[in-house]
Amino acid sequence: MPHFLDINKTDPADLRAMLTRAAAMKSARAGQPRGTPDADQPLKNHMVALIFEKPSTRTRVSFDVGVRQMGGQTMVLSGNEMQLGHGETIADTARVLSRYVDLIMIRTFEEDVLLELAEHASVPVINGLTNRSHPCQIMADILTYEEHRGPIAGKKVTWCGDGNNVFASFAHAAGQFGFDLTFAGPPTLDPEQVFLDEARARGATVTIERDPVRAVTGADLVVTDTWVSMHDSQSAKERRHNQLRPYQVNDDLMAHARPDALFMHCLPAHREEEVTSAVMDGPHSVVFDEAENRLHAQKAILRYCLGL
Ligand code: CP
Ligand code: NVA
Repeated sequence: MPHFLDINKTDPADLRAMLTRAAAMKSARAGQPRGTPDADQPLKNHMVALIFEKPSTRTRVSFDVGVRQMGGQTMVLSGNEMQLGHGETIADTARVLSRYVDLIMIRTFEEDVLLELAEHASVPVINGLTNRSHPCQIMADILTYEEHRGPIAGKKVTWCGDGNNVFASFAHAAGQFGFDLTFAGPPTLDPEQVFLDEARARGATVTIERDPVRAVTGADLVVTDTWVSMHDSQSAKERRHNQLRPYQVNDDLMAHARPDALFMHCLPAHREEEVTSAVMDGPHSVVFDEAENRLHAQKAILRYCLGL
């Protein structure tokens, strides 16, 4: 039974098939009046549980809408309103939910929660973000890049900022889709070495660069994310801001990228911190296409997991 836990755990051919299907499903809806269900209703009579132990706007709404467009139904559950948040084990939660629903999407803190849920569920589990990765986001990002610029293989992607969960999924994707990845950030916020090693082992060129200008020079895609993630302690906020300020994506920095470079951010953005409004709203930015593509990419991920 296929789960979707991380980009490095899914076969590259399956990842490619998901993106192809996502693009086809997106174009099939183009020009349709709002509210039109998909012509195909593959999720008819299917119930999907969406569990959130952290806040969410995009993941929550895009999964909910995507399931409904395909004829399915959802229940959105907040972790602390479930027995899960009051001591019931993850394994028991997985066994029980598997008796009711056809698929579980979870956004949680520790990766072990996701892995334990997947191990004990008899229905597919999708990773909607953990402290360590965010695979659905990067599937949407690849879809967005290729929609605008064609194949991402061989392109230079530069990440500016914290070596966080979103970066980790970019590293997974570099190995699976064959693009070059440069990380630009302070040594204290480097990504885990395992993400870099694995991408390299799969043939990707991965570079760590302390100088943001050198990192962005020649980039086809520049990406950043919030300087403080949901799982980071707020007490580290000031220190992180001081360390990350040199890596802010602004017009001066973007000027070093290729003239046709794209800018992405998974959102929510903290304008004038990790990125200026001039870049967010400027000619390189595709951040709202990227947000929309969460919907289309995840519909393909859902179908892959359900074999539909
Ligand atoms: N990018 C993203 O996952 O956004 P949300 O936190 O709003 O779901
Ligand atoms: N790195 C961010 C991503 C939010 C979608 C976080 O984990 O808070």
